Amino acid sequence: MTKLILRALKGEILPTPPIWMMRQAGRYLPEYRATRAQAGDFLKLCYNPELAAEVTLQPIRRYGFDAAILFADILLLPQALGADLWFETGEGPRLSTITDMAGVRALRPIGDIHDTLAPIYQTVRLLADALPRETTLIGFAGAPWTVATYMIAGRGTKDQGPAHALKSTDRATFSALIDVITDATIEYLSAQVLAGAEVVKLFDSWAGSLKGADFTDFAVKPTVRIIAALKARHPGLPIIAFPREAGAGYIGFAAATGADCVAVDNSVSPEWAAQNVQNTGCVQGNLSPIHMVSGGQGLVDATRRVVDAFRTGPHIFNLGHGITPDANPDNVQLMIDTVRNA
Ligand code: CP3
Repeated sequence: MTKLILRALKGEILPTPPIWMMRQAGRYLPEYRATRAQAGDFLKLCYNPELAAEVTLQPIRRYGFDAAILFADILLLPQALGADLWFETGEGPRLSTITDMAGVRALRPIGDIHDTLAPIYQTVRLLADALPRETTLIGFAGAPWTVATYMIAGRGTKDQGPAHALKSTDRATFSALIDVITDATIEYLSAQVLAGAEVVKLFDSWAGSLKGADFTDFAVKPTVRIIAALKARHPGLPIIAFPREAGAGYIGFAAATGADCVAVDNSVSPEWAAQNVQNTGCVQGNLSPIHMVSGGQGLVDATRRVVDAFRTGPHIFNLGHGITPDANPDNVQLMIDTVRNA
């Protein structure tokens, strides 16, 4: 029997949607915090295959999710390309910045990224061996625009101002950077697939700040290139795209990019997404992560609403964005029970 997530990704409508959760291995789980402390810090955890596999498996053991997502980060790829990367406690990621063409030219050759990323592929191999037979293994990378916003600004930004500024003042440098990230992402994801990832997901967390032609040029086009290259190398590989907060940009995104599934965030209603996105294929989403903090009848009602809205098409149940560190692990169980008994 084929795994439920793979069946949904092929377009099958299942009586109960399969479930996984963005950031399902994370700080809301005491066992994650313990393993992270054992590793020393977050980056050491990412690059330690045994411990990264362990934290990937923790939410599978605790909840029996239908998919496991490789434990890593979208910023490991810039690091493999030569950027300095570190995490400021309580603040988030910091990177060396790219501000001109010399910065793009100084990046390492794409063929060299595997030197840095080899431990990540080893984590994938360990997981492919260790996962229960019904659990799908998802690999991932950041989409080029989102990765570029961090490489240009050197940190997370509210409005992606520095990346938008470079895009308008020095288009050649900006486009060259997008191209390098696109090529590197193809190699990175392809290596994850060769190591055992069964599905890959592209996280375009800041797609929502690209408007009009910019959305086409920098959210759609790089995704088209990545998906075409991956499908040429790995025929039949299912791919999930997450152009977060794309709004109307979600409409037609699967057809335009070749994605098998579009993940939607919770800024759009499940009814709207069912009508405008699920009409062309599988949708993943989109319960607000706030319910993992607040719980109770509000969680139950909102979970049922998502399940009901997507009932007539292919659906993978997920949150609209990652679960937050202040979430209560019991609420995750309540969500799962509600989906499976709805
Ligand atoms: O979903 C999963 O469980 C898989 C692992 C995963 C992580 N990050 C682990 C992580 C995935 C898929 C990501 C993706 C990621 N990383 C994105 C795209 C998705 C999104 O959230 O929009 C982005 C933008 C990043 C970059 C990043 N990594 C930021 C901005 C931060 C700091 C914010 C925060 O939540 O602390 C991280 C750190 C990070 N990545 C943590 C985890 C579990 C927390 C690190 C810790 O343990 O302290």
